[in-house]
Amino acid sequence: MGEPQPILDPLTPAAIFLVATIDEGGESVVREVLADLPGLRRSVGFRLPGGGLTCVTSIGSQAWDRLFAGPKPAELHEFPGYRGDKHQAPATPGDLLLHIKAENQDACFELAMTISDRLSGAVTIVDETVGFRYFEQRDLLGFVDGTENPEGKLAYSAALIGDEDPEFSGGSYVIVQKYIHPLGDWRALSIEEQERVIGRTKLEDLELSDDAKPADSHVAVNDQDELGTIVRANMPFGSVKDGEFGTYYVAYAASPSITETMLERMFLGTDDAAYDRILDFSTAVTGTSFFTPPDGFFDALPEAPAQAAQPGAPAQPEAPAQARTPEDLGESSGDGGVVSSNGSLGIGTLKRS
Ligand code: HEM
Repeated sequence: MGEPQPILDPLTPAAIFLVATIDEGGESVVREVLADLPGLRRSVGFRLPGGGLTCVTSIGSQAWDRLFAGPKPAELHEFPGYRGDKHQAPATPGDLLLHIKAENQDACFELAMTISDRLSGAVTIVDETVGFRYFEQRDLLGFVDGTENPEGKLAYSAALIGDEDPEFSGGSYVIVQKYIHPLGDWRALSIEEQERVIGRTKLEDLELSDDAKPADSHVAVNDQDELGTIVRANMPFGSVKDGEFGTYYVAYAASPSITETMLERMFLGTDDAAYDRILDFSTAVTGTSFFTPPDGFFDALPEAPAQAAQPGAPAQPEAPAQARTPEDLGESSGDGGVVSSNGSLGIGTLKRS
């Protein structure tokens, strides 16, 4: 297996998530910067001993076609979006994801600034989220988040591609979504009711018994014993000025299909639940899928496709993703793809002008 990027390192107190789209004609600059990323990280990180600075870099499906010739990771595709009867998960644009982590925000900021300087004129940063670790690894709903993440060997097999796609072994698929919590509504619930929404106790973080845990609780809808295991790296973010309190959801997995099945269940429902009750207190405002190549990928990038060699050559966009809807359930193909009979969400179109 190729050496992975540091996706399995423990959560740090500070993080910055940058999502960028590649401007038309920006491909060759992006290729240069991707090749230089390991060195840029070392330049900032070496000056901050003990700072734990890492940058996990991931590439979207359309960007892959624009940047590289040759084989493509087998399951790399656009985030489909989900349109449930009550709650929606929009698909929003994104060609590059930089997941920068460190013990302190200064290191994250310095690296974000260094990389964005280099990418200037070639990309548009469409989202910048400053994440922080909150008390006892809690989210802003006040619950401990990440407890049931896999450890040891299981974490490797859950997050990393193995022999099933040898060309890309050591890589991973990552899905990110920004969720906003209406904290006033949430705080109006009793602690016991909040625990029934999540499926765990709030103070001690114990899973509720099967009898006490509702079928629409977050933990019941996302039961990893049933669905498979993913590696989550969620971080809280927020602004008191704007009254914005959120969770930046990040899930790395050996196949995007496990996370996608979880999202289908959360937004479109299960046999026993109309939707995941956490969604009454969490609104998804972004959603994007990427492939996280193994570490060595950046030292020897694949050849550029013929069209990227000519600056200004028009991009060939993949067809826009179509939102998955309740009617799609039961039509999943083996690789997690779903044939949608419905139009896209119309939010965050993937088309380029
Ligand atoms: C609104 C954003 C979210 C928040 C605040 C949140 C919070 C939590 C919390 C507090 C737990 C229980 C402790 C733990 O094991 O981590 C949990 C578990 C889990 N969450 Fe989330 N989550 C969010 C979104 C999602 C999404 C979008 C997915 C999947 C697509 C997901 C998948 C899971 C899984 C797999 C578990 C572990 C279930 C098990 O016990 O096996 N979460 N989440």
